Amino acid sequence: MLTPHLHRSAATSELLYENVALTDIARQFGTPTYVYSRAAIVDNFRAYKTAFAKSKPLICYAVKANSTLSVLALLAAEGAGFDIVSGGELQRVIAAGGDASKVIFSGVAKKSDEIALALSHNIHCFNVESEAELHRVNEIAIAHGKRARITFRINPDVDAKTHPYISTGLKSNKFGVAHLDAVRLYTLAASMKGVEVHGIECHIGSQITKLSPYVDALKRLLSLVDDLAARRIHLHHLDIGGGRGINYQNESLVSMNEFADAVAAEIAGHHLDLLLEPGRSIVGDAGLLLTRIEYLKPGETRNFALVDAAMNDLIRPTLYDAYHAVAPVLQREGAATTYDIVGPVCESGDWLAKERALVLEQGDLLAILCAGAYGMTMASNYNTRTRPCEVMVDGVDAHLIRERERFEDLIAHERIVV
Ligand code: LLP
Repeated sequence: MLTPHLHRSAATSELLYENVALTDIARQFGTPTYVYSRAAIVDNFRAYKTAFAKSKPLICYAVKANSTLSVLALLAAEGAGFDIVSGGELQRVIAAGGDASKVIFSGVAKKSDEIALALSHNIHCFNVESEAELHRVNEIAIAHGKRARITFRINPDVDAKTHPYISTGLKSNKFGVAHLDAVRLYTLAASMKGVEVHGIECHIGSQITKLSPYVDALKRLLSLVDDLAARRIHLHHLDIGGGRGINYQNESLVSMNEFADAVAAEIAGHHLDLLLEPGRSIVGDAGLLLTRIEYLKPGETRNFALVDAAMNDLIRPTLYDAYHAVAPVLQREGAATTYDIVGPVCESGDWLAKERALVLEQGDLLAILCAGAYGMTMASNYNTRTRPCEVMVDGVDAHLIRERERFEDLIAHERIVV
């Protein structure tokens, strides 16, 4: 499960990220620590650009996957746009030097102040998800003397065949407007003074490994584009959302070229600009969580490796039953034992990996792989644990890009009232 940028030293067989030894990172910055590879992030972003070269899409990186400023700044420098879901994410994009005119605003329950903030920065487009939201965007835009470009997020009722918590394009999900209601809503929007109808969007889920759900959704969207054109409502862009899966455990993924070619073939002849909203596939396999084994605890039915990272640092395993490969930083010789890798949090759900055959000793370092997406952004302070620091490796250098939280940070906004 190693990636091109994560490899073992030929001399010592210890794990290197780019050209930095993970043992050195642990020594310098402590553990648990999120470590990202700059080159891997750039490669992932450029893979989209190359595969989609003919369609020249605006690639709006989904900020929720990893919103650390250095990650955003790196992608901004690569020419990325950004898909945001809150005013906070917009402020992060701006703080990182991102271009607000390449920002699209998704999300089912945008607050008035968030809409006003986005309007004041002249973002590219609002992805509207309900009639009520359409009215709100229209009213706020009029009050600010602006016209908001809008796209409807269409719920195409397509099964993305992924985990139910991250499947979003079914009728039963809260997302988007119903396909059947779309023409009425576009007609209503076209009559409003505060909005300008601009595009059409869907996002059907995350960690999608197959091509067919995308093609099915695209066909549903394009038939709507044609219906609307017949009613003299002409759209400028089509946004196929994010959701491309990554290789957590040797999944068989549709190749990027096949994906890009299929999308290009479907939209050919429609004169629409293409937008994409990838998150996980840009940063997921470009990051790992480095943790140290505090204790080994053999048991009657299970053996536990108790590490210093926990569910508050990486919640994906317990929340989605997600698999993350575990690589010992130093490779030991000997007979493997089957371990559950668990953290210090007082819950049985606090696990990072289950039943892994490994040769371990107390004090060893482990790398929890493919943790670059939805790792740090979903971390919490449960059990009054300070969130990890973050390090970006770049060739032989390791840069601290976020300090480890301190206890003082955790209590900074509290007031004792008795
Ligand atoms: N666009 C919209 C509107 C989204 O809701 C999402 C993700 C994306 C783009 C990016 O999708 P991606 O390319 O990353 O699959 N926390 C979960 C994933 C939640 C995804 C939510 N929406 C996880 O850790 O698996």
